[in-house]
Amino acid sequence: MKALVTGASSGIGAAYAAQLAARGHPLVLVARDEARLTALASGLANEHGVAVDVLPADLARPAGLEAVEARLSRDREITWLVNNAGISAGGQFTSLTVGQVDQMVALNVLAVTRLALAAARRFAEAGGGTIINISSVTALLPEKFEPVYLATKAYVLSLSQAMHGSLAGQGVRIQAVLPGVTRTRIWGESLENVPAEMIMEADTLVMAALAGLEAGERVTIPSLGDLTYWDNYERARTQLAPYLSLRLPADRYRVRSGDGPGEGC
Ligand SMILES: NC(=O)c1ccc[n+]([C@@H]2O[C@H](COP(=O)([O-])OP(=O)(O)OC[C@H]3O[C@@H](n4cnc5c(N)ncnc54)[C@H](OP(=O)(O)O)[C@@H]3O)[C@@H](O)[C@H]2O)c1
Repeated sequence: MKALVTGASSGIGAAYAAQLAARGHPLVLVARDEARLTALASGLANEHGVAVDVLPADLARPAGLEAVEARLSRDREITWLVNNAGISAGGQFTSLTVGQVDQMVALNVLAVTRLALAAARRFAEAGGGTIINISSVTALLPEKFEPVYLATKAYVLSLSQAMHGSLAGQGVRIQAVLPGVTRTRIWGESLENVPAEMIMEADTLVMAALAGLEAGERVTIPSLGDLTYWDNYERARTQLAPYLSLRLPADRYRVRSGDGPGEGC
């Protein structure tokens, strides 16, 4: 199986590339920084004896995204997509620039969706394949983080869960990985203020995420020990389902006769 890994030039993507190469898998590595990708590729090829191609592309721009989509559609040896490239902006909602919002949505939402679609189409046609979408625990913490970044990551979680539903039975595995704080470039200097017991190393995260995939998990939260918390969260969500779309509003919203607009005027 050949894997295409986006955001492979550093952090979590580089850790996926290293661990998949160590398992003997040929790779296609995608990011903007061609020099870093080439150095990483030759190191992995030498160490593990696997073929490693580089595909430099800016996934936030149409031409880069189209080039990677085309590779996923054309290269029939690729049977894994690690949909990992993503950026955050930090700070407060009102201090974001329009450019930061555009970049986050273009990379974290649009590119992730289009690559997942290109891979899913071909994998479904071939009757097998694996798509790993990198979300974040911030998807579950709307009170805690910069709103646009966490909303893009909530999107990735929802997309993955919905893709699982629509691809079930076609042999395509979908996993959403929700990292907590992980030591990578994305944090810049700001990790200094985070308690050490909250920070996972990228290699450890990827090892756990691959174990979760092998165990058949659709959603993997690497630091979560007791899975009943996640099961209860999902159960609470599905218990809402019968009440989410009904002909009448709930009793607390019922307009009493005589309360209508214009009454008494
Ligand atoms: N680190 C954490 O604490 C954490 C927690 C939860 C989720 N995540 C998620 O994990 C994923 C990987 O992030 P990371 O922490 O490993 O950060 P990172 O070290 O900054 O890696 C980001 C990767 O994405 C690539 N990238 C950025 N912009 C790109 C673009 N426009 N086109 C193509 N590639 C681009 C970067 O390479 P180039 O600069 O060479 O393009 C780099 O390889 C992200 O989706 C992030 O949201 C991280």
